[in-house]
Amino acid sequence: MKTNIALIGFMGTGKTAVGKALAEKLGKKFVELDSLIEHKAGKTIPEIFEQDGEITFRELEIEVTKEVAKGRNQVIACGGGVVLNKINIDRLRNESIIVYLTASPQIILKRTSNDAEERPLLKVANPALTIQELLTFRKPFYERAANIKVDTSKLDVDSVVQQIINKLKQDESFNF
Ligand code: S3P
Repeated sequence: MKTNIALIGFMGTGKTAVGKALAEKLGKKFVELDSLIEHKAGKTIPEIFEQDGEITFRELEIEVTKEVAKGRNQVIACGGGVVLNKINIDRLRNESIIVYLTASPQIILKRTSNDAEERPLLKVANPALTIQELLTFRKPFYERAANIKVDTSKLDVDSVVQQIINKLKQDESFNF
């Protein structure tokens, strides 16, 4: 039986906020891959992108995902690009139900513009266009990885948590 929940989805779909609340509610450990990457690298994500490049970031993401994927009883907030390397999803799937959070491009723009400095991929002249392009490219990756999907555009954190729990109850491979 699977005891982890891995939250995937684009930047600004609520993975961190929902993950913390969901972990609290289910009495599971909350783990954020981005924080572990920063810890491992000894620098922030914008610094990794700036000094070492995206490829190095993705390598660190693969290493950290491998370690976390083995653990149990965790709610794992993944970075938005975790789906780009199939190996990450293959590893996560062993112990985790994969929950895909979505939001409209407008909501994503609004939510991510509040902390634009933290997201190197959106530090561009036209973030709305970049969001649109990345979403189009990534959508099939998210869809393929997902066991459960929740649109967070019009929901508060508690409602998203409740929807996830309702859907998990229908999944016989998950152990609360
Ligand atoms: C990324 C998303 C970020 C972070 C990095 C790359 C992406 O995480 O991992 O900036 O490729 O979508 P969040 O989705 O938590 O913002």
